[in-house]
Amino acid sequence: MTDTPVAGNGRPLPATAVYGQDVSEVYDLFYRGRGQDFAAEAAVVAEAVRSRRPDANSLLDVACGTGEHLRWLATHFDEVAGLEMSPAMRALARGKRPGTPVHQGDMRGFDLGRAFDAVCCLTSSLGYMSDVGELDAAVAAMARHLAPGGVLVIDPWWSPGAFLDGHIAHDVVRAGPRTVARLSHSRRDGDSVRHEAHYLVADATGIRHFTHTQPLTLFTRAQYLAALENAGCAAEHVEHDTHFTARGLFVAVRG
Ligand SMILES: C[S@@+](CC[C@H](N)C(=O)[O-])C[C@H]1O[C@@H](n2cnc3c(N)ncnc32)[C@H](O)[C@@H]1O
Repeated sequence: MTDTPVAGNGRPLPATAVYGQDVSEVYDLFYRGRGQDFAAEAAVVAEAVRSRRPDANSLLDVACGTGEHLRWLATHFDEVAGLEMSPAMRALARGKRPGTPVHQGDMRGFDLGRAFDAVCCLTSSLGYMSDVGELDAAVAAMARHLAPGGVLVIDPWWSPGAFLDGHIAHDVVRAGPRTVARLSHSRRDGDSVRHEAHYLVADATGIRHFTHTQPLTLFTRAQYLAALENAGCAAEHVEHDTHFTARGLFVAVRG
């Protein structure tokens, strides 16, 4: 089940990536087991923010998923909050940090009625925007939630030049009584990608299978930078060898 996404102006938005109960339940286990270091990534975000705004105290994580980054970001910032569209992901994030606000919302048009010293959007979540118009709208909504001099950190998805069409990935992750195997395949049509993942989840009760299909878009570095600049931010692309993969990060400061 998903909430009906509605833009800031009340207009319904087209459906975007759906994270249901099945994929949400195994999300942390799978990505942690696959090597994603949420604590280290949160430290990189905190450093990117503090080096530009040393007194930053509040942070909003847009498309915060299960709230795993929020857990660690809370060790760097006095006040953290999340925004997430999927009810299943949001419930997990709220369960982990009962005192932390995890707002229901669509990044393409949200209004929390307040500003933060920093906003981040991690693990390629902007790749779910279906075109440049949606990318611009989401980045503008994030920038509107920044105080003047606030810092926006974006971990982007692949650019058209770096993407491998037909790429197959396979992983098997074991955690406690559960084993999760995932086989995924991506197919490109222009700058649109259909990413299809098949999961097998095994535990003492047996083995179940589900599919998670996601529409994603390949945006160029110039398109990300233009979205940030149109939103009134001075932006740069920063390479990171150890975390956030070869895609690096966009770091922007609201003018
Ligand atoms: C790849 S996960 C990343 C989650 C989290 N940021 C992390 O790093 O673990 C992408 C998340 O984006 C959320 N999402 C997708 N489209 C969204 C939208 N339009 N507005 C808000 N969240 C969205 C999904 O529900 C999912 O939780």
